[in-house]
Amino acid sequence: MGLPRGPLFWLLLLLAAACSGILFALYSSATKRYPGPSARARDATSPQALFGPKASKAGARKRQHCHHPLYLTIQRDPHFQGLFDLSTPVLLWGELFTQELWDRLSRHKAPYGWQGLSHQAIASTLTLLNGSGNAKLFAASGEPPPGCVRCAVVGNGGILNGSRQGLHIDTHDYVFRLNGAVIKGFEHDVGTKTSFYGFTVNTMKNSLISYWNLGFTSVPQGQDLRYIFIPSNIRDYVMLRSAILGVPVPEGPDEGDIPGPTAPPTAGAPACPSPRSPAGSTTGRPALSTSFVGPRPQSYFGPGASASKFKLLHPDFIRYLTERFLKSKLINTNFGDLYMPSTGALMLLTALHTCDQVSAYGFITSNYRKFSEHYYDRKKRPLIFYVNHDLLLEAALWKDLHKAGIIQLYQR
Ligand SMILES: *[C@@H]1O[C@H](CO)[C@@H](O)[C@H](O)[C@H]1NC(C)=O
Ligand SMILES: *[C@@H]1O[C@H](CO)[C@@H](O)[C@H](O)[C@H]1NC(C)=O
Repeated sequence: MGLPRGPLFWLLLLLAAACSGILFALYSSATKRYPGPSARARDATSPQALFGPKASKAGARKRQHCHHPLYLTIQRDPHFQGLFDLSTPVLLWGELFTQELWDRLSRHKAPYGWQGLSHQAIASTLTLLNGSGNAKLFAASGEPPPGCVRCAVVGNGGILNGSRQGLHIDTHDYVFRLNGAVIKGFEHDVGTKTSFYGFTVNTMKNSLISYWNLGFTSVPQGQDLRYIFIPSNIRDYVMLRSAILGVPVPEGPDEGDIPGPTAPPTAGAPACPSPRSPAGSTTGRPALSTSFVGPRPQSYFGPGASASKFKLLHPDFIRYLTERFLKSKLINTNFGDLYMPSTGALMLLTALHTCDQVSAYGFITSNYRKFSEHYYDRKKRPLIFYVNHDLLLEAALWKDLHKAGIIQLYQR
């Protein structure tokens, strides 16, 4: 409705969106002493519905029931029990791709649907997501999930600087990280374990550009690590397909990137010379540049990537989360089309719909002004708010979920 949307307007918005995607995830902070895992261990009757029959059998091996399983805590809360629908599918995979789904999702814009996107591009990606590993977050790989699935979701907020939460974080069964998740040098504060890395192609590539100088020189990789694609754009579907097939991205802004497993090895050469941006030696986030200065794309997901390594959030799930939990007033402004929950919010809410117990670290708290934007900033910088996310609304949600005992929000 009002604003003329010339090329400059879009460019600025895209820049804002690009940075913000990254920044956001990062929140964090708070006011109360964190009770620590033992103070409030949740316990679980294992939700067979979420993990499937295999998981519950596996649970028998490592009986560790939650004292306060998430779904019971939710049921007892008058506000949140009306919001949560734990039967909503979290992931999209090949078998769910039907004409009916196509027709329905074609009525919504990304990330909530496929309006204007190519049927061929979507179909060719989803056909590759045909294994049971694509249908469930904790699909059997290595260790079976325990009876009580305890998850930590680690945002990148400055509250983690000096927090010494690394060991607590690593004791969780699964650790979720996102965007510019720097680990090296911050192990005491953020731990080392990564089970899931969540991102959009846009936030991943911008994190590599913006935080390269601060230590984010590669996306977390590992044999047991799984990637959660957030389909915010056609780019995400296109990159996902190339990642599975190990072929260069054929089109679009990522054309030529080789994200997958069968890319030629880099023969020991450093992926990229160390950046020499002017801001590099001191503190700053370097200005977003149009040329990509991060590692070569084939190293995004490391060797050995295959379809089972990738999960894709269901557009219906993102829409459900937005409508129920993060329905921002921004939606009814000129920026409405840009708005979506932050990467951090999507990961935390994903964990809430799949784990039995969830701790959130590095997420925005009411005293966020006390902390730098990121734990790895060299000099304190304020958290920046962009129009494509509503961090204050997210902060209020984390606070309420913590008060209700549904998450344990790390605060200090
Ligand atoms: C998935 O599809 C690929 C390619 O069409 C095929 O090779 C593979 O066997 C399928 N996997 C399963 C679990 O159906
Ligand atoms: C991180 O914490 C240390 C002390 O624990 C402090 O000196 C430093 O300024 C903090 N960094 C930022 C960016 O706030």
